[in-house]
This record gives sequence, structure tokens and C-alpha cells, in this order.
Amino acid sequence: YASTIEADLVVIGGGPGGYVASIKGAQLGMKTVCIEKGETLGGTCLNVGCIPSKSLLNSSHYYHLAHAGELKKFGILVDNVKLDLERVMEQKRNTVKALTGGIVGLYKKNKVEWVKGHGKITSPNQVNALGPDGSVISTINTKNIIIATGSEVTPFPGLEFDEKQIISSTGCLSLSQVPKKFIVIGAGVIGLELGSVWQRLGAEVTAVEFLPTIGGVGIDGEVSQAIQKMLVKDSWNFKLGTKVTAARKQGNDIIVSVENVKDPSKKEELTCDTLLVCVGRRPYTTNLGLEDLGIERDEKGRIPVNNRFQTVVPSIYAIGDCIHGPMLAHKAEDEGVITVEGIAGGAVHIDYNCVPSVIYLHPEVGWVGKSEEDLKKEGIEYKIGKFPYLANSRAKTNAETEGFIKILADKNTDKILGVHMICSCAGELINEAVLAMEYGASAEDVARTCHAHPTFAEAFKEANLAAYFGKPVNF
Ligand code: FAD
Ligand code: NAI
Repeated sequence: YASTIEADLVVIGGGPGGYVASIKGAQLGMKTVCIEKGETLGGTCLNVGCIPSKSLLNSSHYYHLAHAGELKKFGILVDNVKLDLERVMEQKRNTVKALTGGIVGLYKKNKVEWVKGHGKITSPNQVNALGPDGSVISTINTKNIIIATGSEVTPFPGLEFDEKQIISSTGCLSLSQVPKKFIVIGAGVIGLELGSVWQRLGAEVTAVEFLPTIGGVGIDGEVSQAIQKMLVKDSWNFKLGTKVTAARKQGNDIIVSVENVKDPSKKEELTCDTLLVCVGRRPYTTNLGLEDLGIERDEKGRIPVNNRFQTVVPSIYAIGDCIHGPMLAHKAEDEGVITVEGIAGGAVHIDYNCVPSVIYLHPEVGWVGKSEEDLKKEGIEYKIGKFPYLANSRAKTNAETEGFIKILADKNTDKILGVHMICSCAGELINEAVLAMEYGASAEDVARTCHAHPTFAEAFKEANLAAYFGKPVNF
């Protein structure tokens, strides 16, 4: 028998958008049900995204340090360095298990009910949870519904994933051996991060990218060029301005056909044993019942919402990867919180210009706000403050002197408009820039803020000093 549940809020999807919205809803006193079809909570991010990829990036970084002799300069001699890939994967699985299990604990603590099933909306105030055979497990009557169903890998026309040789990001997180020749289609965020994992573990990596630059959307041109140089030094091969048109299996190899974007008569065939398709992700809204409710999707498959995250049906909201904006976990989480606060009658505000981006290479790449290219396009007058890590004391002690920080500030008002950094801890440090920008800080504000010494963050202070005064002190 199908059960009937009465609720104030039903959240469909238990990823970073959905699980955070569920907890916030319960904390604000709403009887909250989260419908998640997966075996675990946490969505793409915890199961096959942010978390497992960062575990592999960390392990492969340690391996590279030891294996490439990078520890010698610190007086640490390690002989006979070997890779235990199964143990690398175990570490990753343990991390994922602990964190997804943690959400189960948080649901219990906050009294969020998890219904395991596929959520299908049947009316503005009712959702059915379906079992794997499509039968109704539960019917939930509710005041409000939040759709947080996320995204899925964009397939490549004519290519089928076997997840061993022709792989998506999901298969790439669980390979059972290190590829010899590894090709990534797309030098966006996934191509660079997962390419790095296997490059550090011994693969020869070639990235084929349609655009003339790497790093995906929003990256500052100067930063993109600098990381490309860094990766080439690590023996990456890049084929930029080049489009993959097809790929086929031939014996144990995969033959990848590519052509020059500007001159399609320039064609080439590349050979590899493993091919990662990472040409973007697309919203996932399959069998949600949207058509019957009159909720249409835009040309990219996203659900249109207003500034309170309401769809055309006022009791139905949508957040995260299935709506507009960058497909990032922290963006989905923030939308989850403010949508629920809005349902409870509060204000709803998010500044997408202050959503940071990080590419977890080594050193890491982080940015927030406008790039130089954006500012030029928008005709905004700006000044630049830069500080290289070569001149930062902590970077010197740690022998991590690659990279720089670049501040873009308004030429007239000194307000910070964008921050771009390459630094071993950019993923942490970028949050200081976000905080400054959220509070509308000027470069001078940051330059006059005391920073602990010796730290990587001092370079942020110095770059702001360079932006507002024209000269840093230590360079
Ligand atoms: P998701 O996390 O996709 O969650 C949606 C959930 O809804 C899923 O669990 C799905 O099973 C469930 N669902 C869907 N339809 C239904 C239904 N009808 N009924 C019930 N359940 C349903 N972002 C970052 O910010 N930092 C990173 O470092 C990062 N690394 C990434 C690495 C990789 C390899 C990938 C693929 C992505 C990465 N991302 C990263 C992106 C990040 O994972 C997503 O932006 C984030 O997960 C989006 O959250 P969400 O809640 O919108 O959707
Ligand atoms: P992406 O949009 O970052 O990059 C895809 C790249 O593929 C683009 O540069 C595009 O020009 C290229 N491309 C498309 N078709 C091509 C073709 N036929 N031949 C050659 N190149 C082609 O998408 P990606 O890397 O798949 O990542 C998806 C999303 O996941 C990202 O947009 C990001 O939001 C999220 N993500 C975030 C991470 C982080 O925050 N650190 C890490 C990993 C993923």
C-alpha cells in the first residue's frame, strides 16, 4: 500500500541544493520531506562530483610529490615509491561514505524525513514518490515543493559510455588502472581536474578543446594562459581551437577524429586507450511531471524561475544545477537556504557576481567577480594590482612560489570588481576576496586590513595595495 504523508515542504533531490534546503526548512519549523532516488544522499557533489574528485586530486598530488622527487629539496628521501591504486580508491570511498552518511545523521537530528524514491509532481500541492518499477510508494500532500534534481553528463553524439575506456566523469573516478594514453574532450573544469589526477599517476594526457583557451567559462585570460603553461610543464599536450568530431574503438585503442575549428579541412586522428568525455553538464528533469503542470524549460533544458526561485506555479520552486547560473555546489546550497527563507516570508537575495569559482589543480586556481575580458566588454575603466608568489615569504618557506594574485578595481572608486589567483591554497584564499566583495570593499580597505605573517594571504593584501597605491611593499 502507498502511504500518505502530510508535509509543509517537499524537496525533490538530496544533493547540495536539496539537502541543505531540507535541513533549513526543518530548522524553520516546516515539516519537511526529501525525496531522493539514489541509495545515498549528497547528490552528484558527494557521490560522483566534488568530493571523490578532490580525494583523488589529493592522493595523486602526494604520489606525484614522492614519485617525482619533489620532496628531496625538503630533505625527505623516499625510495621505491609505488602506487596502490586500490588503496587510493578505498580512501575516496571512505570519504564519500562518511560524508553521505553524515547527511543521514543531519536529517535525523533536524527531523527531515527521507523518502527513497523518484519524485513526480502530480499537482501544485502533491508529489508522488515512485519505486523503481514506477509504482507509487508514497503520496505526499504539501504546501510547497522545491525541485533540486540537479544535472547529468552531456552525452557526446555517437559515443556510448562503457565507463572503462570511453568514460564520463563518473567512470573516471573509479578506473581500475592508470591509462597510458589519456585523451580528454573539453579542457573545462572537469577535463583539467580529472586529467590532472591521471597525469600525476602516470598517464600521458592530451586535452582537445574547441575554444582557443582552457579553464571553461569566466576564467580571466591571463590566468588561463598561466595555467596552460604550468600544465605543459607537467607534460600535458593541448590541442586548442580543435573540435572532436567522432571516436571509434579499434582493437584495444580508441581512435579520436579531430578537426581545426577555423579550418575544418585540417583533420587529424589521435589514438588513446582511455577517452574522457567532459563537454559540460545538462539539467536533469526527467519524469518530474513538469509538462502536465505547464512548467516549460528554456533552450538549455533549465527550469525558469523568478527572483524568489518560484516557477510559473507559485507553490513550486527550483534551485541548483537545474536552473540558470553556474553549476556549482555552493551556489546550489545558497539558493536552497534563501528559497526556504523566502517561503517562510523572508527576503531572498543572492549576488551571482560574488559566487567564487575554483579549479583544484596544483597550485589551485580561484576567481570571483569580473575578468579583464568582462570589464573590457562592459566598457568599465579599471586598474590592476598584482603580486607574485615568488615574493611571498610563506610561499618561499613551502617552496610553492608558482602563481600570483590579480586585483581588478574600479579606476575611479577603487571598489574591487574581480579577484583572480593562482596559489597553492586559492580554494581557501578566494573566500577572503568573496567576503571583501560581498561587503563592497575597496582595494584600500583590504590593503589596510592587518594580515597574519607569514601567510599566503599576505599576497592578497599586497595585490590590493598595488591596486590602490600603485606599488606593493614587498615586490
Ligand atoms: P545534484 O547534486 O545533481 O543532486 C540532485 C539529486 O537529485 C541527485 O541525487 C539525484 O539522484 C536526485 N534526483 C533527480 N531527480 C530526482 C527525482 N525525480 N526524484 C528523486 N530524486 C531525484 N561543484 C563545486 O562547487 N565544486 C567542485 O569541486 C565540484 N566538482 C565537481 C566534480 C565533478 C566530477 C562533477 C560532475 C561536478 C562537480 N561539481 C562541483 C558540480 C556539483 O557537483 C554540482 O553543481 C552540484 O552537485 C549541484 O547540486 P544540486 O543539488 O543542484 O544537484
Ligand atoms: P565545462 O563547460 O567546464 O567545459 C566543457 C568544455 O568542453 C568547454 O570548454 C567546451 O568548449 C569544450 N567542448 C565542447 N564540445 C567539444 C568538442 N566537440 N570538442 C572539443 N571541445 C569541446 O564542462 P565540464 O568540464 O564538463 O564540467 C561540467 C560542470 O561541472 C562545470 O561547468 C562546473 O560547473 C562543474 N564542475 C565544477 C568543478 C569545480 O568547481 N571545481 C569541478 C568539476 C566540475
